[in-house]
Amino acid sequence: ILDQPRLHFLQGDIADSAAVAEAIAGCQAVVNFAAETHVDRSLLEPAAFVQTNVWGTMVLLEHALRAGVQSLLHVSTDEVYGEILIGRARETDPLHPRNPYAASKAAAEHFVFSYWTSYRLPVLVTRGCNTYGPYQHPEKFIPLAITNLLTGEPIPVYGDGFQERDWLYVEDHCRAIWTVLVHGKPGQAYNIGASQHRPNIAVARSIVHLLGADPASIVHVSDRPGHDRRYAVDWSKLAALGWAPRTPFEDGLARTIAWYRSRPDWWTARRDAAFAAYYARNYRDRETPVTQP
Ligand code: TYD
Repeated sequence: ILDQPRLHFLQGDIADSAAVAEAIAGCQAVVNFAAETHVDRSLLEPAAFVQTNVWGTMVLLEHALRAGVQSLLHVSTDEVYGEILIGRARETDPLHPRNPYAASKAAAEHFVFSYWTSYRLPVLVTRGCNTYGPYQHPEKFIPLAITNLLTGEPIPVYGDGFQERDWLYVEDHCRAIWTVLVHGKPGQAYNIGASQHRPNIAVARSIVHLLGADPASIVHVSDRPGHDRRYAVDWSKLAALGWAPRTPFEDGLARTIAWYRSRPDWWTARRDAAFAAYYARNYRDRETPVTQP
């Protein structure tokens, strides 16, 4: 899409003030998708998550305020609520992030809402559940499982595999963000859920089934430290704006598998790099100590 006349592509770091100033000039609305996003990596490199997710958001807020944008939508995550063992989190519930990634996203949200309260910058926040689909980095569970099977490797399931996530197809998530941008009320947060909860072991089994792989290719490995058992959000506030997810999990999964089958050119190098990090992971004895960014 780079040759579309309505698209102006700039590549830069969200924490780089000059780059953000250039990108924001003349913008009516800003949607912030920029973030370090992988929980496992946040356990290895927490400082990078503070730099991009917290400081980067601050830089964006400052420039949005100065540029007088009409709307700033900040893409957050359901992980800010912490694990929800029973029921569903509502937007008014307290935030209890439990890993460095979730903590950085919760911290960013506090700054976003402070710019609404303090300076009346018209902000919106979305808290989406686990998302999957084409172009997802192969460090994440579903693309990792698919690309592992496609290359003859097993699926590593953390612990007992009964941790539960709600899985939202990427295009449904995009429509939700658009709905909030157009119809959301400034200063408000909106949960985005799919009501397609699955334990990880069931997700792994579905992928094995759809790829016709050997069930023995699912292996249990040591658990992620502080692994949140379950996430679940009540998304009725967003439903009241006219949004609903359209893609059943098994359909979205089949489309995702077809995409990864056809695009090893996109994922091979990314996967190799993620794999190196995966096998090198050692949460307790970091090779480099935490330093201030
Ligand atoms: P992930 O895609 O990392 O998203 P999140 O941690 O933000 O929910 O992981 C989804 C679930 O899958 C989570 O419970 C951790 C688990 N998981 C595995 O069991 N094995 C893996 O190799 C990965 C990456 C994740």
